[in-house]
Amino acid sequence: MSLVESLVEKESAMSDKNVSKGAALWHGRFDTSPAESLVAYTESLSFDKRLWADDIAGSHAHVSMLVTVGILTPADGVAILGALDQVAEEFAAQEFIFEPTDEDIHTAIERRVTQLAGEPGARIHTGRSRNDQVATALRLWCKREIRRVRTGVLDLVEVLDTRADEADAQVPPIRLPGYTHLQHAQPVLLSHHLRAHAWALLRDADRLGDALARLDVSPLGAGALAGSSLPLDPQFSATQMGFASVFANSLDAVSDRDFVAEILFDIALIGVHLSRIGEEWVLWTSAEFGFASLDDAFATGSSMLPQKKNADIAELARGKTGRFIGNLTSVLSMLKGLPLAYNRDLQEDKEPLFDSVDQVLRALLALQGMISTATFNASVMSSGADAEALVATDVAEWLVHKGMPFRQAHGVVGAIVRDAIATGRPMVELVREHSDLGDEAAQLFDTGVALERRSTSGGAGPLVSGEQRERLHVRIQQLKARS
Ligand code: ARG
Repeated sequence: MSLVESLVEKESAMSDKNVSKGAALWHGRFDTSPAESLVAYTESLSFDKRLWADDIAGSHAHVSMLVTVGILTPADGVAILGALDQVAEEFAAQEFIFEPTDEDIHTAIERRVTQLAGEPGARIHTGRSRNDQVATALRLWCKREIRRVRTGVLDLVEVLDTRADEADAQVPPIRLPGYTHLQHAQPVLLSHHLRAHAWALLRDADRLGDALARLDVSPLGAGALAGSSLPLDPQFSATQMGFASVFANSLDAVSDRDFVAEILFDIALIGVHLSRIGEEWVLWTSAEFGFASLDDAFATGSSMLPQKKNADIAELARGKTGRFIGNLTSVLSMLKGLPLAYNRDLQEDKEPLFDSVDQVLRALLALQGMISTATFNASVMSSGADAEALVATDVAEWLVHKGMPFRQAHGVVGAIVRDAIATGRPMVELVREHSDLGDEAAQLFDTGVALERRSTSGGAGPLVSGEQRERLHVRIQQLKARS
């Protein structure tokens, strides 16, 4: 038997004994204890343990509320809060010991609080269900982590903006061929190209802010689905946790995962934007383009080909987008068709969410490093930008200035392009000889002129780049100031 076969056999021979009686917090109404296969299949501790701080924050607020409304005595409150603080210390020191019967982070913490605080600990779950507890902890987690993602996005915007300033500070400012259909179209400033990506990322940061504002609602107090007969004060616990408002409908509060889907969409779109940046850098760093080279610290080599220097960060920025889209699809598919209110399916919200947040944070950091340390090859970029064909539109627009209808001007220049290709003669000579054009039009081919003529606000040339820079800076400040 091969090693693989023996491992497979071992796995399938796994026993399906019942775990010890009284294992789960909910064991009261059951005759037998849960089967091992049930425990293995339904547990979420392996991935939701990272919610520990948020679960403790939620429990803190809940217990404080229970004391304030008189459901718990101040002495019980002190005992439970003290136990919660100790549990927090155990987690922070990585000394918290899980037990095989801990189903998820929430039951693990309640179990430990009860061990530490004794009888008062058994009161922590008063007026609360895991359903509102989970939703609360997850929203708290999202509030913190989404701010980190937003900061990462804004940091990348600032890297792009800094590189744009550096490109403009060169004499002359770095220009490159602008593309449509990946064919040379018109010259553009490198700063303009870099800032195009910055604007897209600023919209992403804004979108995350919108998601944050919408998810800032406390579900605590909704209970399992219908609230409680106890005199709870959900507003009190919401304020304690720093939520902007409180749920209006308990069924919605425990079953809403819109906020997860929305964050996953926002991250998927960030991923799409990073993927477009990544694809360009793969091209730009190739021998064929030669527009940029990567710092050694942000490039990788080949195990076989000694000369290779690969843009793996850029490739993964492209490649990992599939899983961002997959995570979004996974959560939307899970939510679709769920009857109100809580269903165990909802537990499947966490892994996609955690994965997308983890991966996008890494992507943002790696791209910041790659872009901030790369070297642009100004002469290669400029020689592409200065190719004659990229002036064609300016020649047509020169004829429009002289009164010729644009469609006719387009035809005149198109014929010159065709002649140039057929005869191998430079376009500038054909323009100079043309009866409608001549020497003045031929000056459009002087280096940099085509770019300088781009006067539209928000356009690609140096005349208007300062104005765009100011607008971008104002927008960055606005988004940084958003809570
Ligand atoms: N780990 C579960 C989750 O993340 C806890 C909720 C279980 N609730 C219940 N009523 N069985 O959704």
